[in-house]
Amino acid sequence: MSIQQWTTDLTGLSSLVQSTAPLPTPGDNEVLVEIRAVSLNYRDVEVIKGEYTHHKSVSGTDRKVPCSDMCGIITQTGPNVTRFAVGDRVLSTFLPDHLTGQVTEKELSRGLGHPAPGVLATHRVFAEEALVKAPEGLSDEEASTLPIASVTAWMSLAGRARKGTVVLLQGTGGVAIAGLQIAKALGATVIITSSSPTKLSQATALGADHVINYRTTPAWDQEVLRLTSGHGADIILETGGAQTLRKSLECIAFGGLINCIGYLSGKIDDPEDDRINVNLLVLRRTVTLQGIINGPRDRFEEMVRFYEERGVKPVVNKVFGFGEVREACGFLESGGHFGKVVVRTTMN
Ligand SMILES: NC(=O)c1ccc[n+]([C@@H]2O[C@H](COP(=O)([O-])OP(=O)(O)OC[C@H]3O[C@@H](n4cnc5c(N)ncnc54)[C@H](OP(=O)(O)O)[C@@H]3O)[C@@H](O)[C@H]2O)c1
Repeated sequence: MSIQQWTTDLTGLSSLVQSTAPLPTPGDNEVLVEIRAVSLNYRDVEVIKGEYTHHKSVSGTDRKVPCSDMCGIITQTGPNVTRFAVGDRVLSTFLPDHLTGQVTEKELSRGLGHPAPGVLATHRVFAEEALVKAPEGLSDEEASTLPIASVTAWMSLAGRARKGTVVLLQGTGGVAIAGLQIAKALGATVIITSSSPTKLSQATALGADHVINYRTTPAWDQEVLRLTSGHGADIILETGGAQTLRKSLECIAFGGLINCIGYLSGKIDDPEDDRINVNLLVLRRTVTLQGIINGPRDRFEEMVRFYEERGVKPVVNKVFGFGEVREACGFLESGGHFGKVVVRTTMN
């Protein structure tokens, strides 16, 4: 029996090729998963284009199956499997060895979809310790969005955001919308930015307390201060990067936390001058800057319990068929989505 898969040599979306491969057999402590849905991340498009180059230990240009986030069903267990049984519905973890605590270079060097083989296939073998039981009450497509976007937002907010905390989210992509849902479930006040009035209305419908169009209000940092009577945002999910960090440092509350997550506005603001006096800007409002790289499996499992208890349902904006992977990646790259973009791998 053979499986269907997509591979890329990391030279662009046109390098994506659909092919067949032999059905793999699970070894010791491994399981075979029939993959039902794969959720795309900004990182996947970067990987496919050969632009995911900012981690020293993540390199290589060998042709590989991309993507890291999936929901599937276990169809076969190898010897000595104890955590799961055939029929269990499971989710992948971005860094399969990162089970608890602080991430290390070693764990980072085994990320799914680059440099390790990814999940954009109909079947894949996983180490049982690298999987998490999928939450009840979510469709395969919804559940597939949890490993990167939701866990990253969870790591930024859990244990910190509560009633009265002001949370600022940038844009309406996967991390920001997961952040909106988690922050609201924790009782926080949410301010969210977007370039699109339609998406701002969607964010309001999801519970955002204040919305700002960052195109028509380029001084959105001042608007955050105005909306909070000068207090600022207690927690910021800094997904914008080059063109947003300086403004985040202007509208963070005294003693606030900026979670450094992404670089949607670029990795370098001005190639002639990429200096930003972070030292002064951070001390000025006694800020904590925290780098986030996803989260360990135990925090993922904690988040799954939270989603089940609170009935949080991830926002899937569009589902593509398995033959439409290039179109799905192109849609994600265009930034036209609100929340998550998913590829359905089977007809079940
Ligand atoms: N560190 C980690 O563990 C981690 C985990 C996940 C993601 N990330 C990174 O975090 C970033 C967000 O990831 P994602 O998956 O949420 O991406 P995404 O779904 O592709 O987000 C796309 C959205 O970003 C918004 N955007 C673009 N430029 C912006 C700007 N200048 N200011 C504010 N928003 C802007 C747009 O929202 P509007 O259309 O509403 O304007 C766009 O629709 C990426 O850089 C990704 O690599 C890091």
